[in-house]
Amino acid sequence: MNSTANNIAGKVVVITGASSGLGEATARRLSAHGAVVALGARRIDRLQALEKALTAAGGKALALATDVTRVDDVKRLVDSAVTAFGRIDVMINNAGLMPQSFLDGLKIDEWDRMIDVNIKGVLYGIAAALPHMKQQKSGHFINVSSVAGHKVRPGGTVYSATKHAVRVISEGLRQEVKAHNIRTTVISPGAVDTELPNTITDPVIAAGMRKFYDDMAIPADSFARAVVFAMSQPEDVDVNEILFRPTRQEF
Ligand SMILES: NC(=O)c1ccc[n+]([C@@H]2O[C@H](COP(=O)([O-])OP(=O)(O)OC[C@H]3O[C@@H](n4cnc5c(N)ncnc54)[C@H](OP(=O)(O)O)[C@@H]3O)[C@@H](O)[C@H]2O)c1
Repeated sequence: MNSTANNIAGKVVVITGASSGLGEATARRLSAHGAVVALGARRIDRLQALEKALTAAGGKALALATDVTRVDDVKRLVDSAVTAFGRIDVMINNAGLMPQSFLDGLKIDEWDRMIDVNIKGVLYGIAAALPHMKQQKSGHFINVSSVAGHKVRPGGTVYSATKHAVRVISEGLRQEVKAHNIRTTVISPGAVDTELPNTITDPVIAAGMRKFYDDMAIPADSFARAVVFAMSQPEDVDVNEILFRPTRQEF
C-alpha cells in the first residue's frame, strides 16, 4: 500500500450510488486502503455482491438498499453505519443520473428525476450525516459535481443546473461547517467510463454521448484516486475542489 493510504485506514465512509461506476470503484479502492464502507443504492443485488467481495478480501462493508430521493432511506443508511461501526468519517454524495435532452423535448419527468436525485439526494445526504459529524466534531463531505457543473452546453441544461447546484451547496456547506471541524470536497469529473450515459433516452444525444465516451472516457478508478487524495490529506488540510478530465477531453 502506498503513502496515500495515510489517513484512510479505519475511516467509516458512506457512499451513495455504490452499485456501479464511480461509487463502486471508490468503495473498492477505499476498502483496499483499509476504510470501512457503507454502500447505498437501489440495486441491492449489486451492493450485496460488492459487500461480499470486499469482505472476502478482508475488508469491512455494509450494504443497504437506499433510494436517495427518500430522506428516510438516506438517514437509515447513515444511521446504520454509525450503529454498526461507531461513527461516520466521510459522506460521499455520489448517486446521480444524466438523462440529457433538449429543453423543447419537454422530458419533464427526467428533469424532475435529476433534480430529485442529483440535488435533493445530496441535500438528504448532508441532512443524514451532518448531525453525527457535528457531534463528533469531525467529518468530511465529498460531493460529486461534474465538468457540467462548470459549463453548460445545448442538451445538457438541466443536468448542468443540477451539477452547478451541487457546487453551490458544497461551497455554502464549506463555509457553514468550519466551526465543527468538518472538511468539504466537491469533485468534478470529465468523461469517466461508467453506466451514466445509459440514462439518456433522447436517441440523438445518446448516440453522440456514446461516441464521446467511447473516444475518451477514462476508468472509474481515476475518480477513486481523487477521493483518496482528498481524504488522505492531514486533518488540517481541506481540499475543497477537484476538477479533472481525460487528457483528450477539450470541453
Ligand atoms: N461518469 C462520468 O463521466 C461522470 C462525470 C461527471 C460526474 N459524474 C457523476 O458521478 C456520479 C456517479 O455516476 P457514475 O458515472 O458512476 O454513473 P453510474 O454507473 O450510472 O452510477 C450511478 C449510481 O447512482 C445510483 N443511483 C441512481 N439513482 C439513485 C437513487 N434514486 N437512489 C440511490 N442511488 C441512485 C445508481 O445506483 P442504483 O441504480 O442501483 O440505484 C448508481 O450506483 C453521478 O452523480 C454523476 O453525475 C459522472
